[in-house]
Amino acid sequence: MAEVKRVGMLTGGGDAPGLNGVIRAVTMKCVNDYGYEVVGIKRGWKGLLEPEDDSIQNLSVEDVRYILQEGGTILGSSRTNPYKNEGDAEKVVKQMEGFGVDALVAIGGDDTLGVAKRLNDDFGTQIIGCPKTIDNDLSATDTTFGYDTAVSIATDAIDKLRTTAKSHERILVVEVMGRHAGWITYGAGLASAANVTLIPEVEPDLDEITDIFKKRAENGEKWGLVAVSEGVTFSSDFVTQNAEKDEFGHVRLGGVAEGLAAELKERTGIDTRHVVLGHLQRGGTPTANDRILSTRYGVRAAEAVKNGEWGKMVALRGDDIVTVSLGEATDETKVVPREHYEMLRSFFG
Ligand code: F6P
Repeated sequence: MAEVKRVGMLTGGGDAPGLNGVIRAVTMKCVNDYGYEVVGIKRGWKGLLEPEDDSIQNLSVEDVRYILQEGGTILGSSRTNPYKNEGDAEKVVKQMEGFGVDALVAIGGDDTLGVAKRLNDDFGTQIIGCPKTIDNDLSATDTTFGYDTAVSIATDAIDKLRTTAKSHERILVVEVMGRHAGWITYGAGLASAANVTLIPEVEPDLDEITDIFKKRAENGEKWGLVAVSEGVTFSSDFVTQNAEKDEFGHVRLGGVAEGLAAELKERTGIDTRHVVLGHLQRGGTPTANDRILSTRYGVRAAEAVKNGEWGKMVALRGDDIVTVSLGEATDETKVVPREHYEMLRSFFG
């Protein structure tokens, strides 16, 4: 193992409340306990692939002490993929050397961690992963920071929409983030007592949903709330904003709530509207739980650097923060189990 003096850190992919908690904890632990120098690399892998004057930033304890309650990431983020074009991964490794970074903590979701794994496999890069996604869809960890905040925001939004839906006797269809895994929608739909909750894991039955709202109207409740994941498909097709794909091949989702609202209006005769929560779910201050979890992840990631646990990712298992291989981390998408959804369905109506 090459001696570690300078630890780099980057955040990649969609931001998540709690990222600054990890940055703070890694920095404070590395500087205070191990005497390392810590630098932040700006804009995810882009900061190494297309370096600019401000791509590297020294991080002192004073720089990070009070960022715990701040949303977003002080390092910025991107969806740059160094494995998209041949030769780019080599450039990233070279730039790490250029910045004098001996070890890297990569904080991100399956795309960022997938790159981290390949850099470790291909070049022996001294790298530690830290899981991040509001979608909560990484199988190797019980949960990720950002998820708790996103569920709270979506729950609060649906709670607020209830009063206006009732006042105007409308069905409001609320679009929630989640491509392949409906965790946020499941959590918010349950916590806000939405009348119907739809997740990507289960294809919706439009007849059943129509009956629910018709029955409610017969009982004098000509209003209702539907929580729907952006990744819900009708006849297996995603609803997308356009055909554009990001560097990891993901299309931009959006529009399912609008289509569903129109369909429900047609079928029930009840006035409908749709609301897309979008990036609101990623914004703002992290909940206390996410501050705690991100701090625990950051401390363990710093320990992993000290121990030389290269190619590993920190993960929550039960009450413990452990390390698992980056391969395991990126293996499969953690989806909402059928039993969870069946339990929730018993509250529909
Ligand atoms: O971070 C994952 C996610 O929140 C998905 O649920 C969503 O589809 C995507 O990010 C949108 O990201 P952006 O618009 O920032 O590319």
